[in-house]
Order: sequence, then structure tokens, then C-alpha cells
Amino acid sequence: MAELITVLGASGSIGVSTLDVIARHPERYQVFALTGNSRVDVLAEQSQRHRPRYVVTGSRQAAAALEPRVPAGCRVLWGEEALAEVAAHADVDTVMAAIVGAAGLLPTLAAARAGKKVLLANKESLVMAGDLFMAAMREGGGALLPIDSEHNAIFQCLPTGYRDAADAGVSHILLSASGGPFRTRPLDSFDSVTPDQACAHPNWAMGRKISVDSATMMNKGLELIEACWLFGVEPDRVQVVIHPQSVVHSLVAYVDGSVLAQLGNPDMRTPIAHALAWPERIASGVAPLDLMAVARLDFEAPDPQRFPCLALAADAVRSGGDYPAALNAANEVAVAAFLDHRLSFTAIAKVVEAVLNDWSASEPCSIAAVQHADRTARQLAQTYSEAMAL
Ligand SMILES: NC(=O)c1ccc[n+]([C@@H]2O[C@H](COP(=O)([O-])OP(=O)(O)OC[C@H]3O[C@@H](n4cnc5c(N)ncnc54)[C@H](OP(=O)(O)O)[C@@H]3O)[C@@H](O)[C@H]2O)c1
Repeated sequence: MAELITVLGASGSIGVSTLDVIARHPERYQVFALTGNSRVDVLAEQSQRHRPRYVVTGSRQAAAALEPRVPAGCRVLWGEEALAEVAAHADVDTVMAAIVGAAGLLPTLAAARAGKKVLLANKESLVMAGDLFMAAMREGGGALLPIDSEHNAIFQCLPTGYRDAADAGVSHILLSASGGPFRTRPLDSFDSVTPDQACAHPNWAMGRKISVDSATMMNKGLELIEACWLFGVEPDRVQVVIHPQSVVHSLVAYVDGSVLAQLGNPDMRTPIAHALAWPERIASGVAPLDLMAVARLDFEAPDPQRFPCLALAADAVRSGGDYPAALNAANEVAVAAFLDHRLSFTAIAKVVEAVLNDWSASEPCSIAAVQHADRTARQLAQTYSEAMAL
């Protein structure tokens, strides 16, 4: 019988790539539910092609607009509860968690608690609520497979049955970063960066929020936090390495001096196909890697002056408690303001830093506490964004 899959965030960049891989293997995979927020046209077209049982939108208005455009037998739902329902539904085997930002937390958590195989693109779930999320995965008993290309690469370089770094003889993890579009841009021109320039990533085609995070390297900071939770390592065992070609997706260094790497073209369909079929392998549609055409692989250390967000994220994970949740919330508010032309590019890091400086941390022992921290940090970030507005 085909595996039934819910794709959370189907209308986004990861969602579209996921459906592309699924469509290549109709005998293995069938779509159970598709979700999106506002892109009704994309959801209408996807529902006609993949014939899911449910489509979920973010609002009543979007659901009403979509209703006449879905095939017969497909139900249209909307809102947070419906997202959690299609993520945890008894008939579902696998959930692709690809909603962007904090909005992904509750449905991803619902899938974890229900014991689904969770394909995790929504790194924010781990950044905001790492401890609670990992506990939910353990209690649910499902498998957790990383979709971020770097974490998927690390997963592939770790031994089967990996429990922790010491047990596996891991010395440290090398987390690859492209350096984004501004790796060599003169620092004194950073204030004039526009949203379109920040979203023009040299190697990856992604949603706008993660593209800005790649330009500030906050994305790598969030990924550092994600790696700590996924692989049970201390932040000091994760070294960020800039690798502009985005061919070596990450590496694992072992205590005997061996370093294992995973390579491939920069196309998210590879980690998606890997996670979907794990522990088997299936075709993804990605072209084979031509190393002669790549010709060279460069590595360099990130410049802390150019990428202050990286240190902010590293400090937040070292401080623990709800610092990472505050970091994530402040960054989401600042990035939204930047994309809306209300904040300069360099002010993103300043807003996040100001929020973290004001933050009095606590240990979030429930999801309600995480959500409270998220709301509080958003309010603070809003105030700072207005004070630093263009
Ligand atoms: N893109 C990549 O290559 C990549 C790589 C690694 C990890 N990731 C991670 O994957 C996640 C998705 O990234 P993306 O680039 O695919 O983002 P994206 O293209 O912006 O897509 C985001 C998806 O989330 C939906 N969404 C947005 N706000 C929502 C809300 N409030 N409630 C419910 N759904 C909502 C969007 O719906 P509408 O579009 O219909 O509004 C869309 O389906 C992020 O966590 C990102 O960090 C992405």
C-alpha cells in the first residue's frame, strides 16, 4: 500500500519540491493532505494534480476561494486546529513539516506526538522548543528525519543507529554555509541592501524569509541550534564553515581523524527524497554531480563583523532556556519589517541583539510557556523595529 503523506506548507518552496519527488513515485506515495496559508492558486492546482483528501488554508476567506476549485471528494478546512488534525490523522504515515516560522510549531508537534515519521524542514520547531519537541518525538515513537540539506548531510555521515556523539566517536560537526549573496560585498554598503538583493541567493532557490536569513547568516545560527538538538551535541562541537559552492552539504569529523562529507548539487529534492525513502534510496530528479564542472571546493571561516547574527544565535543556545525562542521571534519580526521596507538590512541584527539584551530567561516547561516567550519577544522586537525604522 502507498505511504500516505501530509505536506504542511505545500504551497511553499519545500512543499513544491516535495510534491515533485512524490509525483515521481506514485506506487510508493500518495498525498493525504496539502496545506498552505494564502496562495490559493497554487493549492488549487496542487489539489487537482495530487487529489488529496484534505486541503487546509490559513483563513476562512482563502478556504472559501479554494472550495470551488478542488476536485470532488476533497475537503477544504482552515485554521490552526485543522493543521494539527491533518498532521496527526490516524491514516497518515508521514508528515513533511515545511511551514515557515513559528506557525509551524503546533502542527509539527502534533505529528511528533502522534508518532508520525516527521520530515523536518521547519527548523523553528527545534529552535523554539527543542527539549519539548524531542520529548514529543520520543513519546510518539516516530522517526525524525532532517530536511535541511546540512542536517540531512550530517545524518547521512553518522553511523546507523547513532545515539550520541561520544558513543559514535564523533569529534565535531562541520556545518556548511554558502555565505549567502553578501559574502564579498563591501561592508560599508550593507545599509543600502534591498529585500530583492537579499533574496537573490547565489546557489539555492528558497522562500523569502529563509533567503534573508541566509543573507544575514541567521539561518546558519538557527541551524546550529537545530544541530545541537538533532544530534545531541554541545554548540562548541559544531563549527560553521563557509563553502561558497554549496556542494559539500556538511561534514562529520571523527576522533580518529576521519572526516566524512555528503556532496551533491544544491537542490532540496535530494534531502527530501533521502528522508522520504530512508533507509532506502529513490530517484529525486536531481542531476548527477559533475565534479569536473564544479572544479574546486573552497572553505573559509565566517567573518563575525559581517555576520553578527551567527554569534547572537550561538550565545542564545549557550544561554539556553527560552533565549533561542526569543531569538527566533525577534528575528521573524525584524525580517518581516525588512521585507516590508520598514527596517534596514543591518538593523535586523540590532533588533535581535536589543531583544536578547533585555531578555530575562526562564526554562520553558510547556508549549504554552514557549508561546508566551514567543509573544513577549515579538512585542519587544516590534517596539525596537519601530524605534529603528527607516
Ligand atoms: N526553501 C529551502 O530551500 C529550505 C531549505 C531548508 C529548510 N527550509 C525550511 O523549510 C521551511 C519552509 O521554507 P520555504 O522556503 O519552503 O518557505 P516558503 O516558500 O515561504 O513557504 C512557506 C509555507 O508555509 C506556509 N505558511 C506561511 N505562513 C503560514 C501560517 N501562518 N500558517 C500556515 N502556513 C503558513 C506558506 O503558505 P502560503 O505560501 O500559501 O502563504 C507556504 O506553504 C522553513 O522553516 C525553512 O527554514 C527551507
